[in-house]
Amino acid sequence: MIQRFVFGNPIDTEAVVKTIAPSEGAPEGWEIDEAGRQIKRNLNASDIVYGLGETVRGLNKRGWQYISNNTDEPHHTEDRRSLYASQNFLLILGDSTHGIFVDTPGRVTFDIGYTKPDDLVITLDDFDVNLYVVEAGDPAEAVREFRQLIGKSYIPPRWAFGFGQSRWSYMNEAEVRDVVKSYREAGMPIDSVYLDIDYMDSYKDFTVSEERFPDLAGFTKEMRGEGVHLVPIIDAGVKMENGYDVCDEGKAKGYFCKDENGEDFVGAVWPGKVHFPDFLKPEVREWFGSLYGRLLDLGIDGFWNDMNEPALFYSQKRLKEVLGSLQGLDADTMDIDSFFAMAERVGSLFNNKEDYKSFYHTYHGQKIRHDKVHNLYGFNMTRAAGEAFARMAPDKRILLFSRASYIGMHRYGGVWTGDNSSWWSHLLLSMQQQPALNMCGFLFAGSDIGGFNCDVTEDLLIRWLEADLFTPLYRNHSAKGTRRQEAYQFGSQETFRNILNLRYALIPYIYHAFMKAQQEDGMYISPLSFGFPHDARARQVEDQFLIGEALMIAPVYTQNATGRYVYLPERMKLLRMRAVDDYDEEVLEPGDTYVPAALNEVLIFLRQGKSLPLSEPAESTSALDWNASRVIRFDD
Ligand code: GLC
Repeated sequence: MIQRFVFGNPIDTEAVVKTIAPSEGAPEGWEIDEAGRQIKRNLNASDIVYGLGETVRGLNKRGWQYISNNTDEPHHTEDRRSLYASQNFLLILGDSTHGIFVDTPGRVTFDIGYTKPDDLVITLDDFDVNLYVVEAGDPAEAVREFRQLIGKSYIPPRWAFGFGQSRWSYMNEAEVRDVVKSYREAGMPIDSVYLDIDYMDSYKDFTVSEERFPDLAGFTKEMRGEGVHLVPIIDAGVKMENGYDVCDEGKAKGYFCKDENGEDFVGAVWPGKVHFPDFLKPEVREWFGSLYGRLLDLGIDGFWNDMNEPALFYSQKRLKEVLGSLQGLDADTMDIDSFFAMAERVGSLFNNKEDYKSFYHTYHGQKIRHDKVHNLYGFNMTRAAGEAFARMAPDKRILLFSRASYIGMHRYGGVWTGDNSSWWSHLLLSMQQQPALNMCGFLFAGSDIGGFNCDVTEDLLIRWLEADLFTPLYRNHSAKGTRRQEAYQFGSQETFRNILNLRYALIPYIYHAFMKAQQEDGMYISPLSFGFPHDARARQVEDQFLIGEALMIAPVYTQNATGRYVYLPERMKLLRMRAVDDYDEEVLEPGDTYVPAALNEVLIFLRQGKSLPLSEPAESTSALDWNASRVIRFDD
């Protein structure tokens, strides 16, 4: 059962698709303090709190404070409170199960036992909110009810379940060709290569560099002949440049966010100075969305939307102020305090909180300050693209995912979890973020496999590819200046080949389980408690996951480990897989068991009465025979 409670005068975020008549009073078990702008609840010692989509820390969110405030945050360390997305749904699993969705587009602080271990306190900057409260018999039912409220999740094309290789940036046609050729020669399947910002002319959205990609249409066709899709990035900020038609048209039609004086707001991101389209206006979405058509016309059928929190390296106004304040500083006479003050002033230019209060949108005909609707920006950029694809290519599925998001965006695209690092802890984090994203409707999700920042090591990349074997978005991406991270760069070619081929053999299972979750508003990747809600021990497990209805996985995520402990809530069949046709099978009894797993081995557990179909691997999904060539069974 879902109830809605309305406080103040909330903005319609368009996160939900069902209209529910508001109930009177306050939701049961919650205390509302409108003056303090707080919603509170007492937690029992054994309550587990899931949710919040892509945030730091584990599955059970207890013990930290999280802030919904979409942030360009490349340091996903445990002490961070905000990452790129705001997915304000919590699921509390105790003696009973209940969920709460705090539907408000501004900043929200979730203190989940941080200040006081037994208190859950949600604080809103503005107490104008639609609260949706879910009561259910078990966690799966709670998620189903919530997902019915927010509408069906986005479905990507089938090829998007293949392996994708990305890099900031493959600089030209020759580099992309070389990546594809190297994968093919290594016998490793691949379905997509991502084009980062350098494919554009001077980082201008919807342009293509003539020098680097002189014939993108021809090149896209050539790559498709190889079974490879090219996936370009689109950034939120539109470069300010006279004669750049997107900028000129946006200015002429008043499509950009305005500053206090009604002028087009000036920020800076990769292209230098930019204007931000006001995606909250339907006509701006229609305009910006149609621009993707320029790339569709070249044969492109997938996109990733970036920098759409929006990221703000600086605002023109603040840069002027800061530069002004630095005048007169003298390196010879500067004392250490003045040095730190100067460094702080310069550092404060990035994503400055005050800058987000200095520009405006028009939403439902009303002028509204950006920070009040901040968390809706990435959602509406991606919605612009999704709505346009439905208009321009109604019979085709287009790959689309975004960095920033809010619940509601899951109907238009997926997400990737942004700039993680090549750290073992981020391998685990990438897994733990998945179920929380699923709860909020984001089924098509994934992290930068191998890690974006820092130098990867061979063993970390192997373990990450193994751990993410079932993750719908399966993309290796890394930053400029880091060690090259393509699988063929490393010595253990056979291991990489086997893992990637195994992924392809699993795609029919992955796709089927994904579609079932999509159609039935269920979970694709879930914590063990979803399958075993009454098993107190299963509730504690933070590093094993259920994939669809047949499988449990237990990834190895620590350096140099050659195995791990696994908790089995019931008898299961262990598949210790080295390759599609090379694995051990062993039935394991319930309880805690140490399971060896060498670097080239993946641990998959088949549940009782279930079977796992495997296809013959292929070099890309277009060549994949979706019929199973073998079926592994575990009969009761
Ligand atoms: C941002 C994105 C990253 C991309 C880079 C350059 O940091 O998160 O994925 O490679 O910008 O476009």
